[in-house]
Amino acid sequence: MSKSILITGGAGFIGSHVVRLFINKYPQYKIVNLDALTYAGNLENLKDVDQAPNYFFEKVNLLEADKVEAVFKKHLITDVIHLAAESHVDRSIISPLDFVYTNIIGTVNLLNVAKNFWKENYDNHLFYHISTDEVYGALGETGFFTETTAYHPNSPYSASKASSDHFVRAYAETYHLKTIVSNCSNNYGPYHFPEKLIPLFINNIITKKSLPVYGDGLYTRDWLFVKDHALAIDLIFHKGKADETYNIGGFNEWRNIDLIKLLCSLMDEKLGRQKGESETLITYVKDRPGHDRRYAIDATKINKELGWKPTVTFEQGLSETIDWYLQNTEWLQHVTSGAYQHYYENMYSSR
Ligand code: NAD
Ligand code: TYD
Repeated sequence: MSKSILITGGAGFIGSHVVRLFINKYPQYKIVNLDALTYAGNLENLKDVDQAPNYFFEKVNLLEADKVEAVFKKHLITDVIHLAAESHVDRSIISPLDFVYTNIIGTVNLLNVAKNFWKENYDNHLFYHISTDEVYGALGETGFFTETTAYHPNSPYSASKASSDHFVRAYAETYHLKTIVSNCSNNYGPYHFPEKLIPLFINNIITKKSLPVYGDGLYTRDWLFVKDHALAIDLIFHKGKADETYNIGGFNEWRNIDLIKLLCSLMDEKLGRQKGESETLITYVKDRPGHDRRYAIDATKINKELGWKPTVTFEQGLSETIDWYLQNTEWLQHVTSGAYQHYYENMYSSR
C-alpha cells in the first residue's frame, strides 16, 4: 500500500525542501503539508511544486487538535514527518511561551492524534520527529555531540525542543508508537528566513546595512546545506531503525566571524563590489544572553549505518545559496516587508 505522509511545517525553510524532495521523488505517495503559516511559513517556498497531483496543503495550527485529527481522517495519514516549530533562538528569548505552545503542546497534540488514529497497528506507521543539536547544550573547544550525549538545553528554544523529543520517546515507550528522532546541526540554503545568521547577513550585504556580530564573534556552529538535511531525512524515514535517534551534521565547523568574512568576500565578488567593501559593514553588538559557545555533531552513526554523508562542500553550498538570494529578490522583498521591519527594529535597535 502506498503512503499518505503528513509533513508538518512544510511551508517553512527545511520543511519546504523535504516536501519538494518527497513530491518529486515519490509520486506514488500522497504528501500532505500541514502548516499554520506563521511569519516563518510561506507558500511561495513551494510554488514550483504546488500543482503536483500528489500534493495537498492544509492550513492548520497544531494547537487545534480537532483540526489536526480531521486532517488525519480526511487524508488517511499513514506516517508523520514533524518539522513544524518555532525555530529562532532570539525570538525564544523574547517570547518563551510561544515556544512552549507550538513546540511542546503542538507536538503532544500531534502525538495524541497519531496514537489514536493508528491504534489498530502501530507497526505500520512511523512518527518521525525532526529536532536539533541545540538540545545537547554547548561544547567547549573540543568534543562532539553523539546520540548518547546528555541533554542540557540552554535557551527557551532548545528547552522546548528537548521537551518535545522527550515526549516523542515517552510515547514510544508508553504507547508503542513507532518513532524516530533526528538531531541536526545548523542548516543553510535557499528559502531561509532572514532572521538567522546567513540569510540575514546576505540580505544586509545586498542592502548595505550593518552586519550585527554578537559578542566576540568566536562562537562556533557546524553548518549543513539544507538539501543534504532533506536527503538525510528521506534516508532515515525509509531506512532508519524504529525508536532510534540519529545525529546529522556537516563535519563543517566555522567560527561566526570567519564565516562572515567568507560570506563578505564571496558576495563582493558576485556583486562586483570592491574587495573588502562588505567587511566594513561588520559591527560587533551586544551578545545574545545564554549564547551557546560551540556546537559540533558527530555524524558517524548515520554515515556507518545508513551510508549518508553531505553531497556538497560548504563553498559549493554557500555559493549556491548566495546565487539563489541574488536571483530571488522578489521572494526576499516579500519576506522582508511589513512585519519583518518591526521585528528587525525591535531585535537590533537595543543591541
Ligand atoms: P522555520 O521556522 O523556517 O519553519 C517552521 C514552520 O512551522 C513554518 O512554516 C511555520 O508556519 C510552521 N509552524 C510554526 N508554528 C506552527 C503551529 N503551531 N502549527 C503549525 N505550523 C506551525 O523552521 P526550520 O528552520 O525550517 O526548522 C524546521 C524544523 O527543523 C524545526 O523543528 C527545527 O527545530 C528543526 N531544525 C532546524 C534547524 C535549522 O538550522 N533551521 C536545525 C536543526 C533542526
Ligand atoms: P542563528 O542563525 O540564530 O542560529 P543558532 O543560534 O540557532 O545557532 O545564529 C548562528 C550564530 O550566529 C549564533 O552564534 C548567533 C550568531 N548571530 C550573530 O552573531 N548575529 C545575528 O544577527 C544572528 C541572527 C546570529
